[in-house]
Amino acid sequence: MGQDADTFGSIDQFADSTRAASHTARYSRTAMALHWGIAALVLSTIPLGWYGASFEGDTAQSATNLHKSIGIAILLLTSVRIGWRLTHTPPALPDGMAPALRRIAEATYVLFYVLLLILPFSGWWMSSAVPERHPFGFGPFDVPFLPVPRGFASAGPAHFVHINLAWVMVGLAALHILAALKHQFVDRDGVLARMLPISR
Ligand code: HEM
Ligand code: HEM
Repeated sequence: MGQDADTFGSIDQFADSTRAASHTARYSRTAMALHWGIAALVLSTIPLGWYGASFEGDTAQSATNLHKSIGIAILLLTSVRIGWRLTHTPPALPDGMAPALRRIAEATYVLFYVLLLILPFSGWWMSSAVPERHPFGFGPFDVPFLPVPRGFASAGPAHFVHINLAWVMVGLAALHILAALKHQFVDRDGVLARMLPISR
């Protein structure tokens, strides 16, 4: 199967419509756009969240507000992505990959999707439950607060879930990036190229 730019469109459709896709097939352009868009947002919102939680003052408050808006964008895009994933079959992993590694990869993806939903939701919950709410949103549009119980009994558990799962996300992302680099430079099995919109 060719991998040049001319055949990219047909590979695309093939990857989306066939369960028996070979390891040379790629993710669809929509799946790639959602993967890289969400990855960029996650990797930028983590330092913003950490900065906002670690310091005081106007800059820290602005960082937290931006962190929240990016987080809500992640929640919306992840909902679209899960819908897309459930209706479009991704290309199969390389045939030579050990079954245990294959299962770890698949479990990692499920855990990513769970984290990409629970993290923003717990943050949104905590920000809605605290006694002193700080409005945030996108330009002139405020994100509505969730109709959750107000006070520490409600914000406390959401905060606990949020900050602990945030560090699970950091660890999982580090493992995921190392695995992608291993596929590329040690196994040389073309797994990274499956998620890149360029031909080799
Ligand atoms: C995938 C999305 C998100 C990720 C990966 C994420 C990650 C983080 C991280 C790493 C921290 C710093 C924790 C610490 O250093 O203690 C943090 C703090 C925080 N996040 Fe998020 N977050 C996300 C979405 C959201 C959303 C959508 C909201 C609210 C609408 C939110 C509200 C907050 C708040 C208020 C803090 C500060 C907590 C404190 O002061 O201890 N986050 N988040
Ligand atoms: C925090 C940021 C990231 C998140 C949340 C994330 C999440 C994911 C998820 C959920 C999948 C599975 C797609 C599916 O449903 O089949 C995936 C696949 C993939 N990701 Fe990431 N990713 C991130 C960053 C990266 C980075 C930085 C790289 C490259 C160094 C990368 C390389 C890949 C590759 C190559 C695949 C395809 C693996 C395969 O063919 O099965 N990801 N990623």
